[in-house]
Amino acid sequence: MEEKTSFLKNKIDFDSPNKNIMPITSSIDNEGKLRIGGCSIEELVKKYDSPLYILDETTLRNSCKAYKKALERYYPGESLPIYASKANSSIFMSSLIASEGFGLDAVSEGELLTALKGGVPTEKIVFHGNNKSDKEIEFAVQNNIKIIVDNDHDLKRLEKISNFLNIDLEIMVRFTPGIECHTHEYIRTGSFDSKFGFGLEYLKTLFKVISHTKHLKLNGLHAHIGSQIFELDPHKDLGEIMVNVILEAKKYGHDIQELNVGGGLGIKYTQEDDPPSIDEWVKTISFSVIKACEKNKITFPKLMCEPGRSIVSTAGVTVYKIGAFKEIPGIRTYLSVDGGMSDNPRPITYQSSYSACLVSNPLNLNSRNKYTVAGKHCESGDVLFKEIELSDCNTGDLICVFGTGAYNLSMSSNYNRIPRPAALLVCNGEADIIQKRESPHDLLKYDVLPNRFIKQS
Ligand code: LLP
Repeated sequence: MEEKTSFLKNKIDFDSPNKNIMPITSSIDNEGKLRIGGCSIEELVKKYDSPLYILDETTLRNSCKAYKKALERYYPGESLPIYASKANSSIFMSSLIASEGFGLDAVSEGELLTALKGGVPTEKIVFHGNNKSDKEIEFAVQNNIKIIVDNDHDLKRLEKISNFLNIDLEIMVRFTPGIECHTHEYIRTGSFDSKFGFGLEYLKTLFKVISHTKHLKLNGLHAHIGSQIFELDPHKDLGEIMVNVILEAKKYGHDIQELNVGGGLGIKYTQEDDPPSIDEWVKTISFSVIKACEKNKITFPKLMCEPGRSIVSTAGVTVYKIGAFKEIPGIRTYLSVDGGMSDNPRPITYQSSYSACLVSNPLNLNSRNKYTVAGKHCESGDVLFKEIELSDCNTGDLICVFGTGAYNLSMSSNYNRIPRPAALLVCNGEADIIQKRESPHDLLKYDVLPNRFIKQS
């Protein structure tokens, strides 16, 4: 796909950052160079080297505020937005979302620990996962963290623990609502054929089983239908389906007080993308829950949602340095950068498209050339852009890729023993490190050479 960098001329939507390609503080300085959060990208790379992940605090906070504001505006009952920390988990992100009044969703002991270190209140954390370990379940119970029961295995262990400790445990259950949506099949989770959650057809049995336990109190339902979704109808349907499940649970004596509708709102990665705003998404889901509750004369449950990508993706960029060029006459010119599939596995995994520009010429002025932007890994598919239009550039120039705040650092690897980039936070002309750059030596930390391989001198 052809990418154009004319996006700097786009009108910026400050209220719904997911509708922009770039962080909302992006600007061009007097020398025509890119700045984000008031910081010169060129200066940051001089100081912190490349590749570099950068997060813009203003964009992050505006995204959080948009969810909060819309929930307060459209939903008359209690509500809580929960950040899906798989999108980008760090002590910094946990601390930021806690300061915005958000809860957090975690799927491992590592994400739970990060949330606690960042100061997210335990009562605002939920614990997901289709294969939680015993240790993880115990950790969550000890820390008073709400567990989202995904399957019978979870249920049996929680029943055992609650009986052993002789304490009541509030639980939520996750089910698959049978909703199809148009997104990549790897990130579609709400259809019947999914590894997550209980099938709709099993819920009656499940409600019966839970009502026979001594200490498990079912007080919430969860469903998540997928990610990077641009349609509103699937979430409209979801609200209604969930309220119907509340009614079904009631027949078995369960008083459901919490509905968690998952995340999924898409963001604008390229000019062709046109996601709904955060306001529209929250309004759709709120109205559908309100309508179904009024129709069935039930009180409004506490409404929770779990955005990940739409909180953090647009706030993030990755800056790379250009190295080698290889022209294959009549075919293409490869331009190689100093990172690739280890810091951004999304293009090779989902064929995802991004937008990018040269840091020294963001408007793409002067002559235009088509390039294929390759990463430095030993894999032919390590290509960040199949084709992108950039003005004249040379070895040593910087390229900034937008929309990389979500599912980049959190899905990064050390393939080819390449260290992870540093991550910075920018705001009002100041930059702070939020994750240190790894060094090749760090990567040796967990290697062990068996004694008999160590040469005796
Ligand atoms: N809640 C649950 C239970 C989830 O599984 C997810 C994402 C979310 C919330 C947040 O969804 P979001 O608002 O970010 O769409 N690695 C893929 C995305 C995987 C999403 C996994 N679950 C990617 O890079 O596109």
